[in-house]
Amino acid sequence: MPQHFVTFNDLRPTDIWAIFERAAFLKAERAAGRFRRDHLGGRSVGMFFNKNSTRTRVSFECAITELGGQAVVLNIQDSQFSRGEPLSHSARVLSRYLSGLVIRTYKESDLQTLAQWASIPVVNALTDEQHPCQVLTDIFTFVERLGGRPLESQLVAWIGDGNNMANTWLEAAETLGFRLHMACPEGYDPDPATLARATAANPGVKLFRSPAEAAAGAHAVNTDVFASMGDEKEKAQRHKALAPYQVNAALMALAAPNAVFMHCLPAHPGEEVTDEVLESPASIVFDEAENRLHVQKALLERLIPAL
Ligand code: CP
Ligand code: NVA
Repeated sequence: MPQHFVTFNDLRPTDIWAIFERAAFLKAERAAGRFRRDHLGGRSVGMFFNKNSTRTRVSFECAITELGGQAVVLNIQDSQFSRGEPLSHSARVLSRYLSGLVIRTYKESDLQTLAQWASIPVVNALTDEQHPCQVLTDIFTFVERLGGRPLESQLVAWIGDGNNMANTWLEAAETLGFRLHMACPEGYDPDPATLARATAANPGVKLFRSPAEAAAGAHAVNTDVFASMGDEKEKAQRHKALAPYQVNAALMALAAPNAVFMHCLPAHPGEEVTDEVLESPASIVFDEAENRLHVQKALLERLIPAL
Protein backbone atom coordinates (compact mmCIF):
# COMPACT_ATOMS: atom_id res chain seq x y z
CA MET A 1 0.00 0.00 0.00
CA PRO A 2 1.46 3.40 -0.91
CA GLN A 3 1.44 6.11 1.72
CA HIS A 4 -1.04 8.84 0.74
CA PHE A 5 -1.44 12.43 1.95
CA VAL A 6 -5.17 12.91 1.50
CA THR A 7 -5.94 14.25 4.93
CA PHE A 8 -3.56 15.96 7.37
CA ASN A 9 -3.59 13.15 9.88
CA ASP A 10 -2.41 10.63 7.29
CA LEU A 11 0.97 11.75 8.65
CA ARG A 12 2.14 10.91 12.17
CA PRO A 13 4.03 13.49 14.22
CA THR A 14 7.32 11.66 13.59
CA ASP A 15 6.72 11.88 9.79
CA ILE A 16 5.92 15.57 10.10
CA TRP A 17 9.05 16.45 12.08
CA ALA A 18 11.20 14.42 9.66
CA ILE A 19 9.61 16.31 6.72
CA PHE A 20 10.32 19.64 8.45
CA GLU A 21 13.95 18.72 9.04
CA ARG A 22 14.41 17.66 5.43
CA ALA A 23 12.57 20.75 4.12
CA ALA A 24 14.89 23.03 6.12
CA PHE A 25 17.89 21.21 4.62
CA LEU A 26 16.51 21.45 1.06
CA LYS A 27 15.73 25.13 1.59
CA ALA A 28 19.31 25.84 2.68
CA GLU A 29 20.68 23.81 -0.23
CA ARG A 30 18.60 25.78 -2.72
CA ALA A 31 19.64 29.09 -1.14
CA ALA A 32 23.24 27.98 -1.75
CA GLY A 33 22.43 27.43 -5.43
CA ARG A 34 22.07 23.65 -5.23
CA PHE A 35 18.66 23.16 -6.88
CA ARG A 36 19.03 19.88 -8.66
CA ARG A 37 18.61 16.46 -7.04
CA ASP A 38 17.88 13.09 -8.58
CA HIS A 39 15.44 11.54 -6.13
CA LEU A 40 12.72 10.95 -8.75
CA GLY A 41 15.21 9.61 -11.31
CA GLY A 42 13.18 10.70 -14.35
CA ARG A 43 9.83 9.47 -12.99
CA SER A 44 6.61 11.38 -13.69
CA VAL A 45 4.15 12.81 -11.18
CA GLY A 46 0.63 13.78 -12.28
CA MET A 47 -0.84 17.11 -11.22
CA PHE A 48 -4.57 17.29 -11.91
CA PHE A 49 -6.58 20.45 -11.26
CA ASN A 50 -10.32 20.97 -11.14
CA LYS A 51 -10.02 24.44 -9.54
CA ASN A 52 -7.73 27.42 -10.13
CA SER A 53 -4.25 27.53 -8.62
CA THR A 54 -1.07 29.60 -8.70
CA ARG A 55 1.05 28.53 -5.70
CA THR A 56 0.16 24.85 -5.57
CA ARG A 57 0.60 24.31 -9.26
CA VAL A 58 3.89 26.20 -9.62
CA SER A 59 5.48 25.04 -6.36
CA PHE A 60 4.69 21.37 -7.05
CA GLU A 61 5.85 21.63 -10.65
CA CYS A 62 9.15 23.22 -9.58
CA ALA A 63 9.52 20.66 -6.77
CA ILE A 64 9.05 17.72 -9.17
CA THR A 65 11.51 19.18 -11.70
CA GLU A 66 14.12 19.97 -9.05
CA LEU A 67 13.79 16.42 -7.68
CA GLY A 68 14.72 15.05 -11.09
CA GLY A 69 11.24 14.13 -12.31
CA GLN A 70 8.65 15.65 -14.57
CA ALA A 71 5.15 16.88 -13.90
CA VAL A 72 2.27 15.82 -16.11
CA VAL A 73 -0.17 18.69 -15.61
CA LEU A 74 -3.80 18.21 -16.58
CA ASN A 75 -6.86 20.37 -16.32
CA ILE A 76 -9.54 17.92 -15.16
CA GLN A 77 -12.07 19.49 -17.55
CA ASP A 78 -9.89 18.27 -20.44
CA SER A 79 -9.70 14.69 -19.17
CA GLN A 80 -12.06 11.72 -19.04
CA PHE A 81 -12.53 12.44 -15.32
CA SER A 82 -15.04 15.12 -16.23
CA ARG A 83 -16.87 12.75 -18.61
CA GLY A 84 -17.62 10.32 -15.83
CA GLU A 85 -14.92 7.63 -16.14
CA PRO A 86 -15.07 5.76 -12.84
CA LEU A 87 -12.42 6.97 -10.41
CA SER A 88 -11.55 3.34 -9.67
CA HIS A 89 -10.57 2.94 -13.34
CA SER A 90 -8.69 6.26 -13.58
CA ALA A 91 -6.71 5.45 -10.43
CA ARG A 92 -5.55 2.10 -11.80
CA VAL A 93 -4.76 3.49 -15.27
CA LEU A 94 -2.75 6.41 -13.93
CA SER A 95 -0.86 4.14 -11.54
CA ARG A 96 0.54 2.37 -14.62
CA TYR A 97 2.21 5.58 -15.85
CA LEU A 98 2.88 7.82 -12.90
CA SER A 99 4.80 7.60 -9.62
CA GLY A 100 2.50 9.96 -7.74
CA LEU A 101 -0.73 11.89 -8.22
CA VAL A 102 -1.29 15.41 -6.87
CA ILE A 103 -4.91 16.41 -7.26
CA ARG A 104 -7.09 19.47 -6.54
CA THR A 105 -10.82 18.96 -6.80
CA TYR A 106 -14.10 19.56 -4.97
CA LYS A 107 -15.03 16.41 -3.08
CA GLU A 108 -12.73 14.89 -0.47
CA SER A 109 -14.50 11.56 -1.11
CA ASP A 110 -13.13 11.56 -4.70
CA LEU A 111 -9.59 11.66 -3.33
CA GLN A 112 -10.41 8.87 -0.91
CA THR A 113 -11.69 6.75 -3.80
CA LEU A 114 -8.60 7.47 -5.89
CA ALA A 115 -6.36 6.63 -2.92
CA GLN A 116 -8.25 3.37 -2.36
CA TRP A 117 -7.60 2.22 -5.93
CA ALA A 118 -4.22 3.77 -6.77
CA SER A 119 -0.99 1.88 -6.30
CA ILE A 120 0.90 5.22 -6.23
CA PRO A 121 0.75 7.93 -3.53
CA VAL A 122 -2.18 10.36 -3.85
CA VAL A 123 -1.61 13.90 -2.53
CA ASN A 124 -4.43 16.29 -1.73
CA ALA A 125 -3.76 19.65 -3.39
CA LEU A 126 -7.02 21.08 -1.89
CA THR A 127 -10.60 19.94 -1.69
CA ASP A 128 -13.70 21.63 -0.29
CA GLU A 129 -12.89 19.92 3.04
CA GLN A 130 -9.07 19.92 3.36
CA HIS A 131 -5.85 21.68 2.30
CA PRO A 132 -3.17 19.57 3.99
CA CYS A 133 -0.11 20.64 1.92
CA GLN A 134 -0.82 24.25 2.86
CA VAL A 135 -1.27 23.65 6.58
CA LEU A 136 1.81 21.41 6.71
CA THR A 137 3.77 24.27 5.15
CA ASP A 138 2.18 26.88 7.39
CA ILE A 139 3.23 24.98 10.49
CA PHE A 140 6.76 24.59 9.11
CA THR A 141 6.83 28.37 8.52
CA PHE A 142 5.56 29.09 12.02
CA VAL A 143 8.11 26.68 13.53
CA GLU A 144 10.89 28.51 11.59
CA ARG A 145 9.84 31.66 13.46
CA LEU A 146 9.78 29.96 16.86
CA GLY A 147 13.55 29.69 16.98
CA GLY A 148 13.48 26.43 18.95
CA ARG A 149 10.53 27.23 21.25
CA PRO A 150 8.24 24.16 21.37
CA LEU A 151 5.21 24.23 19.08
CA GLU A 152 3.04 22.61 21.79
CA SER A 153 3.39 25.74 23.94
CA GLN A 154 1.96 27.98 21.21
CA LEU A 155 -1.53 29.36 20.72
CA VAL A 156 -2.76 29.65 17.13
CA ALA A 157 -5.90 31.66 16.33
CA TRP A 158 -8.12 31.00 13.34
CA ILE A 159 -10.42 33.92 12.52
CA GLY A 160 -13.21 33.70 9.93
CA ASP A 161 -14.73 31.00 7.78
CA GLY A 162 -14.68 27.41 9.05
CA ASN A 163 -13.51 26.25 5.62
CA ASN A 164 -11.07 23.67 4.23
CA MET A 165 -8.11 25.47 5.85
CA ALA A 166 -9.90 25.63 9.21
CA ASN A 167 -10.69 21.89 9.10
CA THR A 168 -7.08 21.11 8.32
CA TRP A 169 -5.79 23.32 11.17
CA LEU A 170 -8.09 21.31 13.45
CA GLU A 171 -6.53 18.05 12.29
CA ALA A 172 -3.08 19.57 12.75
CA ALA A 173 -3.89 20.59 16.34
CA GLU A 174 -5.23 17.09 16.97
CA THR A 175 -2.01 15.53 15.64
CA LEU A 176 0.61 17.99 16.89
CA GLY A 177 -0.94 19.16 20.18
CA PHE A 178 -0.66 22.98 19.96
CA ARG A 179 -3.53 25.16 21.21
CA LEU A 180 -6.00 26.39 18.58
CA HIS A 181 -8.64 29.04 19.24
CA MET A 182 -11.09 29.52 16.39
CA ALA A 183 -13.64 32.26 15.90
CA CYS A 184 -16.27 31.63 13.23
CA PRO A 185 -19.68 33.27 12.80
CA GLU A 186 -22.74 31.12 13.37
CA GLY A 187 -23.45 29.09 10.25
CA TYR A 188 -19.76 29.07 9.21
CA ASP A 189 -18.35 26.56 11.69
CA PRO A 190 -15.79 23.97 10.61
CA ASP A 191 -16.86 20.40 9.93
CA PRO A 192 -18.57 19.17 13.14
CA ALA A 193 -16.96 15.70 13.11
CA THR A 194 -13.47 17.17 12.59
CA LEU A 195 -14.09 19.69 15.38
CA ALA A 196 -15.38 16.96 17.72
CA ARG A 197 -12.32 14.76 17.09
CA ALA A 198 -9.90 17.65 17.62
CA THR A 199 -11.54 18.88 20.83
CA ALA A 200 -11.69 15.30 22.21
CA ALA A 201 -8.00 14.76 21.48
CA ASN A 202 -6.73 18.20 22.47
CA PRO A 203 -8.35 20.27 25.27
CA GLY A 204 -6.52 23.32 23.88
CA VAL A 205 -8.85 23.40 20.85
CA LYS A 206 -11.78 25.82 21.34
CA LEU A 207 -14.41 27.41 19.13
CA PHE A 208 -15.55 30.98 19.92
CA ARG A 209 -17.95 33.39 18.26
CA SER A 210 -15.87 36.45 19.22
CA PRO A 211 -12.73 37.15 17.15
CA ALA A 212 -11.30 39.15 20.08
CA GLU A 213 -11.58 36.14 22.40
CA ALA A 214 -9.91 33.81 19.89
CA ALA A 215 -7.09 36.26 19.09
CA ALA A 216 -6.32 37.12 22.74
CA GLY A 217 -2.72 36.14 23.51
CA ALA A 218 -2.31 34.19 20.25
CA HIS A 219 1.19 33.65 18.88
CA ALA A 220 -0.11 33.30 15.31
CA VAL A 221 -3.27 34.82 13.85
CA ASN A 222 -4.57 33.05 10.76
CA THR A 223 -7.34 33.86 8.35
CA ASP A 224 -8.55 33.06 4.83
CA VAL A 225 -10.92 34.47 2.23
CA PHE A 226 -14.63 35.00 3.00
CA ALA A 227 -15.67 32.94 -0.05
CA SER A 228 -13.57 29.95 -1.06
CA MET A 229 -13.50 28.50 -4.56
CA GLY A 230 -16.96 27.06 -5.14
CA ASP A 231 -18.65 29.48 -2.68
CA GLU A 232 -18.88 32.40 -5.13
CA LYS A 233 -22.69 32.32 -5.31
CA GLU A 234 -22.87 33.03 -1.58
CA LYS A 235 -20.52 36.01 -1.81
CA ALA A 236 -22.95 38.69 -0.57
CA GLN A 237 -24.24 36.77 2.45
CA ARG A 238 -20.74 35.60 3.37
CA HIS A 239 -19.37 39.15 3.27
CA LYS A 240 -22.14 40.26 5.60
CA ALA A 241 -21.54 37.44 8.10
CA LEU A 242 -17.75 37.54 7.97
CA ALA A 243 -17.06 41.33 7.85
CA PRO A 244 -16.82 41.52 11.70
CA TYR A 245 -14.11 38.81 11.48
CA GLN A 246 -11.63 40.98 9.57
CA VAL A 247 -8.05 40.74 10.86
CA ASN A 248 -6.99 44.34 11.38
CA ALA A 249 -4.49 46.22 13.55
CA ALA A 250 -6.96 46.38 16.46
CA LEU A 251 -7.35 42.58 16.45
CA MET A 252 -3.60 41.99 16.06
CA ALA A 253 -3.06 44.27 19.09
CA LEU A 254 -4.88 41.67 21.23
CA ALA A 255 -2.49 38.90 20.19
CA ALA A 256 0.80 38.13 21.97
CA PRO A 257 3.71 40.55 21.47
CA ASN A 258 5.56 39.55 18.27
CA ALA A 259 2.61 37.45 17.06
CA VAL A 260 2.74 36.56 13.38
CA PHE A 261 -0.03 37.01 10.83
CA MET A 262 -0.65 34.06 8.50
CA HIS A 263 -2.74 33.58 5.35
CA CYS A 264 -2.52 30.81 2.76
CA LEU A 265 -3.13 33.36 -0.07
CA PRO A 266 -4.63 34.45 -2.37
CA ALA A 267 -5.85 37.28 -0.09
CA HIS A 268 -8.42 39.98 -0.66
CA PRO A 269 -6.87 43.02 1.06
CA GLY A 270 -9.54 45.14 2.71
CA GLU A 271 -11.88 42.16 3.17
CA GLU A 272 -10.66 39.37 5.50
CA VAL A 273 -7.45 41.29 6.33
CA THR A 274 -6.41 44.89 6.04
CA ASP A 275 -3.54 45.86 3.79
CA GLU A 276 -1.87 47.32 6.89
CA VAL A 277 -1.67 43.88 8.59
CA LEU A 278 -0.85 42.01 5.37
CA GLU A 279 2.10 44.31 4.66
CA SER A 280 3.24 44.63 8.30
CA PRO A 281 6.45 43.07 9.70
CA ALA A 282 4.22 40.55 11.52
CA SER A 283 3.05 39.10 8.21
CA ILE A 284 4.78 35.87 7.11
CA VAL A 285 2.51 35.19 4.16
CA PHE A 286 5.22 35.23 1.49
CA ASP A 287 7.41 32.88 3.54
CA GLU A 288 4.41 30.53 3.71
CA ALA A 289 4.13 30.72 -0.08
CA GLU A 290 7.86 30.07 -0.61
CA ASN A 291 7.93 27.20 1.82
CA ARG A 292 5.31 25.28 -0.16
CA LEU A 293 8.18 24.40 -2.49
CA HIS A 294 10.59 23.14 0.17
CA VAL A 295 8.01 21.26 2.24
CA GLN A 296 6.42 19.59 -0.79
CA LYS A 297 9.85 18.44 -1.99
CA ALA A 298 10.42 16.79 1.39
CA LEU A 299 6.90 15.33 1.27
CA LEU A 300 7.37 13.87 -2.23
CA GLU A 301 10.72 12.37 -1.25
CA ARG A 302 9.00 10.64 1.65
CA LEU A 303 5.92 9.41 -0.21
CA ILE A 304 7.76 8.29 -3.36
CA PRO A 305 10.70 6.16 -2.24
CA ALA A 306 14.01 6.52 -4.10
CA LEU A 307 14.60 3.96 -6.85
N1 CP B 1 -2.54 28.72 -1.19
C1 CP B 1 -2.82 28.06 -2.34
O1 CP B 1 -3.09 26.86 -2.36
O2 CP B 1 -2.76 28.86 -3.42
P1 CP B 1 -3.20 28.47 -4.91
O3 CP B 1 -4.69 28.38 -4.94
O4 CP B 1 -2.67 29.61 -5.75
O5 CP B 1 -2.57 27.16 -5.29
N1 NVA C 1 -10.10 28.41 1.27
C1 NVA C 1 -9.52 28.78 0.01
C2 NVA C 1 -8.07 28.39 -0.04
C3 NVA C 1 -7.37 28.75 -1.32
C4 NVA C 1 -5.94 28.33 -1.34
C5 NVA C 1 -10.29 28.11 -1.13
O1 NVA C 1 -10.64 26.93 -1.00
O2 NVA C 1 -10.56 28.78 -2.12
